[in-house]
Amino acid sequence: MDPHPPPFSYFVTLLYLLLFSVTLTSSLSPPISPTKSPSAPSPLPSASSSSPSSSSTLDPKQLRALQSLNIPTSKDPCAQPSIHNATLCDSSKPFRHLLSLRLVNCSDDVALSSTALKSLSTLQDLEFINCPVAAVHFPSDLLSSLRSLTCIRSLRRLTGVWLSRFQNLTDLTVSNVHVNASGPFVILNSMKKLRSVTISHTNLTGYLPKHWHLNITHLDLSGNELIGKIPSAVTLLENLQLLNLSSNSLTGEIPSTLGDLLSLQNMSLASNSLSGPIPESMAAMPSLVHIDLSFNQLNGTIPDYLTKMKGLKYLNLENNNFNGVMPFNVSFIKKLVVFKVGGNSNLCYNHSLISSKMKLGIAPCDKHGLPISPAPAKSDSSADESGSSDDSDYNDSEDDSSHKEEHHHGPNKVVLGVAIGLSSIVFLIVFLILLSKWCG
Ligand SMILES: *[C@@H]1O[C@H](CO)[C@@H](O)[C@H](O)[C@H]1NC(C)=O
Ligand SMILES: *[C@@H]1O[C@H](CO)[C@@H](O)[C@H](O)[C@H]1NC(C)=O
Ligand SMILES: *[C@@H]1O[C@H](CO)[C@@H](O)[C@H](O)[C@H]1NC(C)=O
Ligand SMILES: *[C@@H]1O[C@H](CO)[C@@H](O)[C@H](O)[C@H]1NC(C)=O
Ligand SMILES: *[C@@H]1O[C@H](CO)[C@@H](O)[C@H](O)[C@H]1NC(C)=O
Ligand SMILES: *[C@@H]1O[C@H](CO)[C@@H](O)[C@H](O)[C@H]1NC(C)=O
Ligand SMILES: *[C@@H]1O[C@H](CO)[C@@H](O)[C@H](O)[C@H]1NC(C)=O
Ligand SMILES: *[C@@H]1O[C@H](CO)[C@@H](O)[C@H](O)[C@H]1NC(C)=O
Ligand SMILES: *[C@@H]1O[C@H](CO)[C@@H](O)[C@H](O)[C@H]1NC(C)=O
Ligand SMILES: *[C@@H]1O[C@H](CO)[C@@H](O)[C@H](O)[C@H]1NC(C)=O
Ligand SMILES: *[C@@H]1O[C@H](CO)[C@@H](O)[C@H](O)[C@H]1NC(C)=O
Ligand SMILES: *[C@@H]1O[C@H](CO)[C@@H](O)[C@H](O)[C@H]1NC(C)=O
Repeated sequence: MDPHPPPFSYFVTLLYLLLFSVTLTSSLSPPISPTKSPSAPSPLPSASSSSPSSSSTLDPKQLRALQSLNIPTSKDPCAQPSIHNATLCDSSKPFRHLLSLRLVNCSDDVALSSTALKSLSTLQDLEFINCPVAAVHFPSDLLSSLRSLTCIRSLRRLTGVWLSRFQNLTDLTVSNVHVNASGPFVILNSMKKLRSVTISHTNLTGYLPKHWHLNITHLDLSGNELIGKIPSAVTLLENLQLLNLSSNSLTGEIPSTLGDLLSLQNMSLASNSLSGPIPESMAAMPSLVHIDLSFNQLNGTIPDYLTKMKGLKYLNLENNNFNGVMPFNVSFIKKLVVFKVGGNSNLCYNHSLISSKMKLGIAPCDKHGLPISPAPAKSDSSADESGSSDDSDYNDSEDDSSHKEEHHHGPNKVVLGVAIGLSSIVFLIVFLILLSKWCG
């Protein structure tokens, strides 16, 4: 027999091994990520159907108005649940009327016409979300029927005067849209029935009003360009449950009458330029759940009475100028969902009450109640690395979840690498054997 098999069979073996290694690699590689689903059909398709469907129970004038706004009407808009809950109707006879309308993700060709708006003046609730149509003049019937207006990333060129015409509103939400007004009072002064106001991230300028309508329960003017002091008139809002004035340019002290807000649950004055102490009167606020005073220039000691607030869940005092011994002990801090005091360089903790493992971002106190050493920088945790297993309760959970995700992706890459490495080695060995046979 021929001792040397013909070169042909080597090639076959080589090809076979090559093929094998390729299949191995591809079978071990991570599953192909699902191809991006074809962009979902627009929720409000522009194909407005032909004629008002005869089965609809909605007033024909309102049906035509919906069609002009590109809302599909091939199904009865008064049937429940309607498409994305965009519409809600009353039960009048023979025709029903719209009570509520929500326009979401409007296409570019949608325009508000005054004819359409006139026929919609049974609406009590109107919402625009991602709907950058021009803010046209609303007919007076619609202005007075509306109880609730929402405008999020919607309606171009909003002005305070335009908004101020909605005089019967109880709920106003305007956010992430530019509002041109000389101050919030332009908008709010005429709305005597308001209960809930959100005007946030609108670059609204000016001072906070000195007069308020007293039924307001929810006041959020965060993320604007408001200046001046917080007027003590705000503390007359005895029904106020939420006060958010964060991320403005407010100055001066927190009004000493803040404690009059007996219904207040959630309060943020964060990211302003407020100075002075936390007012003593806050001791009398029984309902507080959420206190955020971070990123200001507040000073003085942190009052003892905060430790007696039974309902408190969230306390953020970081990045201020507080000084002295922090009054909180471990059991108080553990009860909170969020607790932050870092970035107060003259504040310290009593090391016989609190372990350094808690990494609060402030220094321990000496026997005079002064910080022993400069507060450890937040990122510099090397000194406490040994006992870090106890700290998870006090740290943001985001870190943990991002770690988990990394682990989740880890193994696939390792397996892929090993597979490629192995198949390359097999290939190399075959190649070398082949080479030696040929040369030998
Ligand atoms: C509007 O668009 C956003 C993002 O494009 C999408 O997440 C959302 O589900 C859409 N809303 C409706 C009601 O279709
Ligand atoms: C529509 O409203 C009903 C009841 O009000 C609710 O159960 C349902 O989740 C809503 N559907 C959408 C898509 O918002
Ligand atoms: C709106 O409020 C005015 C008074 O501010 C009142 O006369 C009118 O009846 C209200 N409109 C509706 C539809 O309730
Ligand atoms: C507010 O002003 C900032 C900077 O001046 C700008 O980046 C932002 O887009 C404005 N916001 C709105 C809602 O117009
Ligand atoms: C805001 O309104 C004033 C007075 O009406 C005008 O002079 C100014 O240009 C407007 N600003 C913007 C950004 O529209
Ligand atoms: C304020 O609220 C009370 C009780 O809910 C109500 O009787 C009163 O009419 C409201 N005032 C205004 C101006 O809406
Ligand atoms: C205040 O508003 C900001 C941004 O608008 C938000 O991140 C924060 O959670 C709000 N705080 C409270 C207490 O509502
Ligand atoms: C009030 O604050 C608590 C605790 O942070 C939070 O769970 C709750 O959603 C907030 N409520 C409102 C209306 O923002
Ligand atoms: C707080 O700061 C003000 C100046 O902003 C100063 O007059 C006052 O003495 C300070 N109070 C304390 C207790 O440091
Ligand atoms: C922690 O402080 C609270 C309120 O001041 C007090 O009731 C509690 O006894 C203290 N717990 C410990 C372990 O010192
Ligand atoms: C720290 O706490 C202990 C025990 O409660 C107390 O005796 C001591 O005076 C406190 N130290 C300071 C600096 O407040
Ligand atoms: C939270 O964890 C991060 C890193 O995981 C660390 O830099 C930071 O100091 C920790 N913060 C606290 C308050 O323990």
